[in-house]
Amino acid sequence: MNMNALKGRSLLTWLDFTADEILCYLEFSKKVKDEAKRGELKQRFLGKTVALLFEKHSTRTRCAFETALAEEGGRGIFLAMADTHIGVEESVADSARVFGRMFSAIEFRGFKQSMAEDLAKYSGIPVFNGLTDEFHPTQVLADIMTLEENFGPCKGRKLCFSGDGRNNVARSLMVICSKLGVNFTVVTPQNLNPDPVLVAKCEGFAKDSGAKIVITDRTDAVEGADAIYTDVWASMGEEAKKKERVELLRPYQVNQALMDKTGRGDTIFLHCLPAIRGEDVSADVIDGGQSRVWDEAENRKHTIKAIMLASIGNL
Ligand code: CP
Ligand code: NVA
Repeated sequence: MNMNALKGRSLLTWLDFTADEILCYLEFSKKVKDEAKRGELKQRFLGKTVALLFEKHSTRTRCAFETALAEEGGRGIFLAMADTHIGVEESVADSARVFGRMFSAIEFRGFKQSMAEDLAKYSGIPVFNGLTDEFHPTQVLADIMTLEENFGPCKGRKLCFSGDGRNNVARSLMVICSKLGVNFTVVTPQNLNPDPVLVAKCEGFAKDSGAKIVITDRTDAVEGADAIYTDVWASMGEEAKKKERVELLRPYQVNQALMDKTGRGDTIFLHCLPAIRGEDVSADVIDGGQSRVWDEAENRKHTIKAIMLASIGNL
């Protein structure tokens, strides 16, 4: 595992990383999890501080960053964006310059991907994307880790996303799967198809990795899937679209009938959470034996710790 290429790196989207680099983060995440399970106490964030800048709500992502840092002697400083000057009395660029003089790194969760990019550009310190309208890269590393915990190496496995095919999680899954050789199927109504420009890019990566990318409105496309994944039908910022989405996505709910369409009893269910029982997923599936959502949520911490350690840790 050669971590040198990851030192000082931002994680804005997996588009910027090679398959080998992503696999390196994955291996390191497993090592970090094993160390934690063995109760090994380490101090690899000693002297490090990370600005945790949130423009949108969060439970898991914030907790993962804060606990990962605290466990190893570092400190996350939570900044609700509305309580700062950013974008009101001060430009993003100027605030970023100030963060760059005080912190070791920045985590940003918000609306615009361009804001994550600007924070990286003007701060001069690593920026970790904790979710934007376009991408949720730290989430999908935890998802692939969970897939591997159940089935071994992810290459050649089949992951199906059923739901809003154009959202940040579906897009990020498409990128990471196409880079790592995971067959990725998006089951979504045609008017929620993922952005064709991103699909074309991912098809390019898939040529190199051997992944098969399928976009369809047919739920029987889940046949043979190792994992079925879903997310909320209206993402943060899209609350006004909720009613229309419920109508559109009702046939794509992950329920036992959809799980059974894989034709396999060992298909696992994944969800980035938060979930809405009775909408994106039925209660029997998320609370049932095929669900791995709590392992997946826990893996957010191990992967986020690994991502930060690789970039700013005292290794
Ligand atoms: N999955 C996820 O990002 O959860 P939070 O919104 O709670 O951070
Ligand atoms: N697509 C969801 C993910 C939440 C973790 C959203 O952006 O709200």
